[in-house]
Amino acid sequence: MKPVQFSPSLMCVDFLNLSEELDLMKKHSIDYLHMDIMDGSYVPNFTLGTDFAYAMHQYSNITLDFHLMVDNVDRSFGLFAKHKGSIITIHPETSKHPVRTINGIREMGCKPGIAIDPGMSLSTVEHLLPLVDLVCIMTVNPGFAGQKLLPFCLEKIKDLVKIRDSKGYSFKIEVDGNVSWENIPTMINYGADVLVLGTSSVFNKEISREEGYTQLKELIKNKDK
Ligand code: DX5
Ligand code: ZN
Repeated sequence: MKPVQFSPSLMCVDFLNLSEELDLMKKHSIDYLHMDIMDGSYVPNFTLGTDFAYAMHQYSNITLDFHLMVDNVDRSFGLFAKHKGSIITIHPETSKHPVRTINGIREMGCKPGIAIDPGMSLSTVEHLLPLVDLVCIMTVNPGFAGQKLLPFCLEKIKDLVKIRDSKGYSFKIEVDGNVSWENIPTMINYGADVLVLGTSSVFNKEISREEGYTQLKELIKNKDK
């Protein structure tokens, strides 16, 4: 069983101590930098942008894991796909022709992903699953950190594993939203490969970052026992 990977959500960092945050992520050998990009239209919020993405790409060689929560995504995914080797995850309903967009992301040298809104069923994306390297199951409504898990979304993780295994697909399953100490064991047991870490775990304001990463490692170690 491959170890679960971690993708801390950079919308949750302490922006006044950004390089410290990044050094800690390197120290704890996290796998991806989760870049929540929002346009205030697809979701009623704004977060990170192209200059921030450029700075992150300069700072380290940690793979950027872009989560594009933007309307008319065909218009803007190229701004992020120029960071070759990145994961570019779109909400398929934001593209007029998602197959063309997914292929376009791959042609730009990036790994395409799709994100499944809580209200979206897996059956609506069945023709996209063989084309992507990652499927992100949203376990909260996209747009804000600090929300509570929508429990019915967890079932999609299990269903997705079944589809992937029965069809021989190779995408990773990422889970994004209220990935908390309490929810992590279930998410892993159901088949999550990548966890988006936010205010529910390492960026929790009640604990130091170091304590957060230590608690995460403890949790994972005990789970494997
Ligand atoms: C939702 C965001 C959040 C964030 C994680 O659009 O993507 O899920 O990354 O934050 P918490 O852990 O607070 O849900
Ligand atoms: Zn996200």
